[in-house]
Amino acid sequence: MGPAQAGKIPVRLFLLLVLLCVSASEPIRTGIGDRSDILSEEPITPIEAEPRPDTDKTALGERLFHDVRLSGGNDVSCASCHQLALGGDDGLDRSLSPSGTALEFNSPTVFNVSLNFRLNWRGNFRTLEEQNEAVLLDHTLMNTSWQELLPKLNADADYARRFARVYGGPPDRASVLDALAAFQRSLTTPNARFDRYLRGEHAAITAEEARGFELFKSYGCSACHQGANVGGNLFQRFGIFADPFAEGGGLEASRSRPLRDHGARKRPTRVPCPEP
Ligand code: HEC
Ligand code: HEC
Repeated sequence: MGPAQAGKIPVRLFLLLVLLCVSASEPIRTGIGDRSDILSEEPITPIEAEPRPDTDKTALGERLFHDVRLSGGNDVSCASCHQLALGGDDGLDRSLSPSGTALEFNSPTVFNVSLNFRLNWRGNFRTLEEQNEAVLLDHTLMNTSWQELLPKLNADADYARRFARVYGGPPDRASVLDALAAFQRSLTTPNARFDRYLRGEHAAITAEEARGFELFKSYGCSACHQGANVGGNLFQRFGIFADPFAEGGGLEASRSRPLRDHGARKRPTRVPCPEP
């Protein structure tokens, strides 16, 4: 540090002392008080409830999500691989394509998916609409096309009525993707016991669970499993010590896995966590 910078320190220190004295004698909520709240924040933040979701739209999206007519062979729906009763995935180590072959990846949960900054394990999509369209058109997944899908939906009187009510017209590419995304955005899990604990309600989790959370932080798990979704918000490099995909594949990095709702899922993880 140069002499010019060193000369500024006493001034800063003086200002800090003045500010401390002011805030000690007068505990009003100033910008400084708010900043100290942020500094004491946990690495994991509670999930916020979506403000007043459009229920007609999410119900329409929910029907689409469960409808096998969204696939070319009328045999697979989004819910085939993202089963809401199983925690939002399929419980398999690797998901199966409609023809029965193992896919390269396993299906992530769709619960709290709107909290992930990038989608898919390689993070190759940024929005649910882009990701969902790719799934619909992918030959190994839903294997459909808009030319094939839209007339199928429009021929269904219930869909025609619902699309007219929510979007003012027959189903089109934008409204189908919007309804699907709205439904997935509604799949957040606010106000879990853990969220209440994070908001300061200490009795919301057991003493053993609170101890586990302390260990989780002290072992450094929260270096990668952090934010509202307890992960899914950064990428981690694989294969620093050994190639975890030596038998095939070639994935170099993956998003850290969100651990929200982990207990609800029964699927083994594909590779162990990277060393912190
Ligand atoms: C055949 C199984 C299968 C079907 C059917 C399927 N998915 Fe997926 N889904 C997957 C797999 C596998 C991944 C991970 C892909 C990757 O990482 O490249 C995935 C990833 C996702 C993700 C990203 C989640 C995240 O956290 O990154 C979303 C969102 C999603 N699917 C929604 C849908 C929707 C909506 C449909 C229906 C239009 C659908 N899926 C149909 C297997 C499936
Ligand atoms: C250096 C980053 C990093 C650290 C530190 C880390 N993890 Fe992970 N963790 C990951 C990544 C990346 C994955 C996804 C790998 C996979 O599932 O194939 C993962 C996956 C998991 C899974 C599997 C989740 C599932 O749904 O299958 C669990 C459980 C887990 N981590 C718990 C922990 C615990 C507990 C700690 C601390 C002892 C920890 N992790 C430390 C990056 C990390």
